[in-house]
Amino acid sequence: MKGVVLAGGLGSRLYPLTKITNKHLLPVYDKPMIYYPIQTLINAGIDDIMIVTGGNYAGHFLQLLGNGKDFGLKHLNYTYQQGEGGIADALSLVEHFADDEPVCVVLGDNIIEGNIRKAAEDYRKQGRGAKILLKQVHDPQRFGVPELDGERVIQIEEKPKKPKSDYAVIGIYFFDNTVFNVIKTLKPSDRGELEITDVNNHYINEGTMTWAELEGWWTDAGTFESLLHAANLVAKTGANNLELSAANS
Ligand code: G1P
Repeated sequence: MKGVVLAGGLGSRLYPLTKITNKHLLPVYDKPMIYYPIQTLINAGIDDIMIVTGGNYAGHFLQLLGNGKDFGLKHLNYTYQQGEGGIADALSLVEHFADDEPVCVVLGDNIIEGNIRKAAEDYRKQGRGAKILLKQVHDPQRFGVPELDGERVIQIEEKPKKPKSDYAVIGIYFFDNTVFNVIKTLKPSDRGELEITDVNNHYINEGTMTWAELEGWWTDAGTFESLLHAANLVAKTGANNLELSAANS
């Protein structure tokens, strides 16, 4: 299974912080934001990773990450998303890299306390289709929200005004390689983007979607409030099951 970190976009919700850099390079406590999703993949045993970036500061990722030595990697792959096409559009760029293998996709502003090793193992056994991770939240309106019927997910709504559950679909997804054909059938949403929620609904309709509840805390970091929240969570407990930095211990 290959790993993908989606780190494009203009980060307009964090303007002016993102006027001179990419959102995913901003600090979350003691590390650049993108360190966390990379570590999430590595902790799941996935070390063939592509970073999808975009915008005006894409070169900064190379300067920061190079070939991934800080993570014990020998090599990192990069690609560039032109424009603001959305998460599913960014994912379409990794088709060649995926090369018929399944992919674990992590949004570059999603940070978790623990790890997804068990979900990755379960997905490997599943063999086809997709898998999402859910987390109970107090503000589901901000996210993709599943409608659940017992153990079954019936559909996902993107940022619903009246959420049908208090779960969020977190920004870590497992897809088989049919995902690239699914993306080719999508139409832009009202916000002008190809939505990952439409991809997930395709797998739900096909009957090949599974889900698991994530253990430990999860947050995105794409707004001022959630960026601060993320930094406070990392400062308090650490993330990715990593030791806190010496400065904090
Ligand atoms: C995206 C997805 C949403 C998901 C969220 C997780 O939202 O569209 O379904 O719940 O990431 O962080 P965005 O950050 O693009 O608003």
